[in-house]
Amino acid sequence: MNIEKIYNLVDETLLDDSANNEKLKAICSLLKEEVHHYDWVGFYILDKSQNILLLGPYVGEPTDHTKIPVGKGVCGQVAENCSTMIVQDVSNIDNYIACSIDVQSEIVVPVMKDNDFVAEIDIDSHAFAPFTNRDQELLETIASKIKELF
Ligand code: SME
Repeated sequence: MNIEKIYNLVDETLLDDSANNEKLKAICSLLKEEVHHYDWVGFYILDKSQNILLLGPYVGEPTDHTKIPVGKGVCGQVAENCSTMIVQDVSNIDNYIACSIDVQSEIVVPVMKDNDFVAEIDIDSHAFAPFTNRDQELLETIASKIKELF
């Protein structure tokens, strides 16, 4: 993966005239295209009044999990703990919400705005243990760049 190229593409996307949801969808698409081991890329957005995560823009297979309570699954745990979770082997953990039998691993990165959790980037991979510090650094930097969209 070419991290600098991805940052430039994200910066360009943030500058264009489209609506925030279109920008988020474009960022999902570019991540999926640029990083071979990203098979499903999406956003879950906090609904504070109900304390649940709502599925936002995504690319990849449709998922039934359009609402996830805070605390449930990997996504819900990240919303609760406000820190990145990497699961290199999803068959190995409890409190996991399976979206597809093809998914082997997952990374979820919080989007923080003014010290509050507002959303998260969720990425599923069909590869076993593909994630490194570079993925974490890439996605945490993007999370910081896009926080104003929420
Ligand atoms: N696997 C996630 C659910 C969301 S899907 O991956 C799109 C979880 O355990 O929270």
